[in-house]
Amino acid sequence: MSLILGRTVFGKEADKSNVLSREDADALFNSWVLNSRLQLHMKQVAYLMKCWAAEKEGLDEAGQWRWELAGLLHDADWDQWPDLHCSKIIEELENRHVDPEIIHAIASHGPLHFGVEPETTMDKMLFAFDELSGLIHAYSLMRPGGYEGMDVKGVKKRLKEKSFAANVSREDIADACNRAGIEQDELIAFIIPRQATVK
Ligand SMILES: [Fe+2]
Repeated sequence: MSLILGRTVFGKEADKSNVLSREDADALFNSWVLNSRLQLHMKQVAYLMKCWAAEKEGLDEAGQWRWELAGLLHDADWDQWPDLHCSKIIEELENRHVDPEIIHAIASHGPLHFGVEPETTMDKMLFAFDELSGLIHAYSLMRPGGYEGMDVKGVKKRLKEKSFAANVSREDIADACNRAGIEQDELIAFIIPRQATVK
């Protein structure tokens, strides 16, 4: 089964700066994503995107919502239509006239799977947060205190253990950090305390 999208242009220029309202985004999220583990993953990535946009990119609330929206919906079709991941959510957002930049970020969150290269900072950060966030969450589940007391060193140890969260691609994580120009340690340190607050 190939998920390669076969195109690199998404949405329409005329739709630039259009977003979904939070109500519409939540309604789509709740009707498409029924698996609570996946819901949590998507909320975690959404929050990390929002924090990065605010703290590192200095974006205003509208700018932060664009990043958050990309994170919130990036896996929206994975639960019910895995064979159509991520073409289904892309088409839905195109039909709803969402900004092409937001759709491109979703389309490029797995370059090897979808055949679309992350280009903008938003693209690159979504790709970088996706896998690393999942590994850090898996680590929290095996620690008695969850996120409490978790440090970068512990996460890096788990990264080196190939059998731990084996479905999380170490190559993707390294590739994503390279593309984003961020040290893995820095990204892990950014994720831990913020992700810990998402329930
Ligand atoms: Fe994801």
